[in-house]
Amino acid sequence: YVPGTIYEAIGGAETIQRLVNLFYKRVGKHPKLTPIFPDDLTETALKQYWFLTQFFGGPKLFNENRGHPMMRRRHLPFEITPSRRDAWVGCMKEALEETQIEEPYRTAIFERLSLTASHMVNTPE
Ligand code: HEM
Repeated sequence: YVPGTIYEAIGGAETIQRLVNLFYKRVGKHPKLTPIFPDDLTETALKQYWFLTQFFGGPKLFNENRGHPMMRRRHLPFEITPSRRDAWVGCMKEALEETQIEEPYRTAIFERLSLTASHMVNTPE
């Protein structure tokens, strides 16, 4: 761990793993999101685990496994509308609550992911 990172403060790999699992459990049931996600979310969850790990200051797992993040570009094949963004953000909010990540980290993470999510919108409603 690098001390002083969000990654370290919230409990590292174990916490990110829990967050990702709780998040995709919701994504897999959300009627706005299931049309664009694969039925089996195992791979998706692993990639997200790599991404969030490095996004919050942990080891650079995404770069090591997938290369440069280029998140907006990687999302262009999917129609991401404002309401899909809201659905994604809603699933993340609930997952952050269920993971019981403490403040101020929960809000800091939520705000950063909400901003990133808005950046992914590529299709009007
Ligand atoms: C991949 C949807 C926002 C991180 C994907 C995929 C979809 C998707 C459909 C492809 C899944 C797959 O083929 O495995 C969405 C929607 C979003 C959103 C609807 C709402 C705005 C975000 C945000 C992040 C993110 C905010 C990061 C914080 C990722 C990652 C991948 C991914 C890491 C895997 C990329 C790869 O390695 O190929 N997303 N996404 N997504 N998304 Fe999102």
